[in-house]
Amino acid sequence: MKKVLVIHGPNLNMLGKREVEVYGMTTLDEINESIKEEVKRYELEVEIFQSNHEGEIVDKIQSALGRFDCIIINPGALTHYSIAIRDALAAVKIPAIEVHLSNIHAREEFRHKSVIAPVAIGQIVGFGPESYMLAVRAAAGILG
Ligand code: DQA
Repeated sequence: MKKVLVIHGPNLNMLGKREVEVYGMTTLDEINESIKEEVKRYELEVEIFQSNHEGEIVDKIQSALGRFDCIIINPGALTHYSIAIRDALAAVKIPAIEVHLSNIHAREEFRHKSVIAPVAIGQIVGFGPESYMLAVRAAAGILG
């Protein structure tokens, strides 16, 4: 079975409590349960990781080398400035799908730029928790 690593970045552990008018009421645990259900449809294995720390996310991406076939990542605010995460993804060369709950392009200007997008296969934004399910489907497509 192909293996997918899902990485949630800073503050995503606060979903359900945090800016609910932007991110909705669904908690990260609920999203993770839906991801675990969704991967079954495509016969994929999944591991899910959340961290508020850039270096831990870099370590996790590095440790994925040779162990995972695809990375689905919502880097949170790190999306907009973490060259370290971008370089880690470029280094391991594991196909990556960038995900956001909100439509970052329709929000403040500082969110329009993603330093991750150029090293990702593609970006899925704006569908709330469903963005992750669309990413699982995209991963299944990539892994064929
Ligand atoms: C986010 C968008 C980012 O700009 C923000 O910093 C987040 C969440 C999203 O999923 O919409 O923490 O990645």
